[in-house]
Amino acid sequence: MDVLLGAQWGDEGKGKVVDVIAPGYEVIARFQGGPNAGHTLLFEGHKHVLHTIPSGVFRAGTMNLVGNGVVVDPVIFLKEVRALEAAGVDVRETLLISRRAHLILPTHRALDAASEADKGKAKIGSTLKGIGPTYMDKTGRNGLRVGDLFQSDLPDRIAVLKRKHERLLSLYDAPGASAEAEAEWLDAVEQLRGFRTVDCEHYLDEALRSGKRVLAEGAQGTLLDVDFGTYPFVTSSSTICAGACTGLGVAPNRIGSITGIFKAYCTRVGSGPFPTELNDATGEAIRKAGHEFGSTTGRPRRCGWLDLPALRYAVMINGITELAMMKADVLNGMDTIRVCTHYRVNGALTARMPYDVSAGIEPVYIDMKGWTAAGTDQRLPLELERYIATVEEAVGVPITIVSLGPDRAETIMRERVPAS
Ligand code: GDP
Ligand code: IMO
Ligand code: MG
Repeated sequence: MDVLLGAQWGDEGKGKVVDVIAPGYEVIARFQGGPNAGHTLLFEGHKHVLHTIPSGVFRAGTMNLVGNGVVVDPVIFLKEVRALEAAGVDVRETLLISRRAHLILPTHRALDAASEADKGKAKIGSTLKGIGPTYMDKTGRNGLRVGDLFQSDLPDRIAVLKRKHERLLSLYDAPGASAEAEAEWLDAVEQLRGFRTVDCEHYLDEALRSGKRVLAEGAQGTLLDVDFGTYPFVTSSSTICAGACTGLGVAPNRIGSITGIFKAYCTRVGSGPFPTELNDATGEAIRKAGHEFGSTTGRPRRCGWLDLPALRYAVMINGITELAMMKADVLNGMDTIRVCTHYRVNGALTARMPYDVSAGIEPVYIDMKGWTAAGTDQRLPLELERYIATVEEAVGVPITIVSLGPDRAETIMRERVPAS
């Protein structure tokens, strides 16, 4: 099984790359996160944004699996299915959901909102999809799983969980879910029962034994990982490669290549530290050129220069074997492009990601000459080749894909140079 994941703070372009390479796989499996994700695909003039459903769904002959590590909101899931049907894609046969995946209830979303409101200025900047509270119920052993939808005591289980949530909400003095939201959720749950559910660990074991190729699709990014991200400004799941094992029930020794997706610069949406952030006209220019507005919430994304200590950290934590560099076209026409090679922390130079990434970190940059490149180029401009070589040398991993536009076709596959 190969793994594809985000190497920064999310929105690197994972959806695009999965869609591009999906024809090389029989199964695409999402392993964590939920509808906080927004994975954008663009081809034949149409844009599609997926939140829960894996990004292989547009490729004929590919099965798409929602793994046990994913949290599913039945209402959002059904909306996605309907949007796909409207686009002429019938997922009834090709979409599988793990019985062990946890369900997001309307009261999880209410709790998310209450927790953020309670934090005030210190809020995480959550997408408010109920992700944190749902994973809390999972590890707290209170959660409701897709498999429970087929148990006769389902109404009791829902009532017990709702009662717990209502108690918590009253502690926050916060409103619960509306009656309409509850009714919509119950209706969606009823429809969700009509989809194909599996024990994903067994399904994938059989697929791998019979020689099928499986690609695990990550959501969010390494720096949003609950353990290794910029805690507490992170999401609530394991976004790293190890999360693909626990989020799908696949053993570590079955992992093959691990592709890290990163942008030629950095973005972050929501609160939290961001050492190379540009709060100036350059940051604004990148946001504009890159259309850096959230696919899920529409919020403006914070923009900054490429951060090599952070990328090196992502390579280490995930065991990344190859990288895909996205959105190099967004920097087209800039005279100078800066790259952070080190941090200065309390006066000392370091190439390591420190424990505390909040104030006090000063990025150290090198300046590189800019380029202008298009996805249709046969050869990349020399300046871009130099940029690529600088990153490869700094992190010790080859960049095998360069993306120069949002469209499927605007992708350059580079020959894999064997690591020396
Ligand atoms: P994901 O969450 O990692 O799948 O990424 P998102 O879909 O949230 O954000 C990536 C955005 O950049 C989407 O709007 C893509 O259509 C767009 N995109 C992806 N690759 C490129 C690229 O190489 N160039 C440009 N200009 N846009 C890209
Ligand atoms: P994709 O898969 C970028 C961010 C939120 C917030 C923090 C916690 O599209 O890359 P949560 O809703 O999980 O409680 O939010 O994580 N976040 C993302 N940022 N891309 C994502 O997903 C994200 N999913 C969550 O903005 O800062
Ligand atoms: Mg996204």
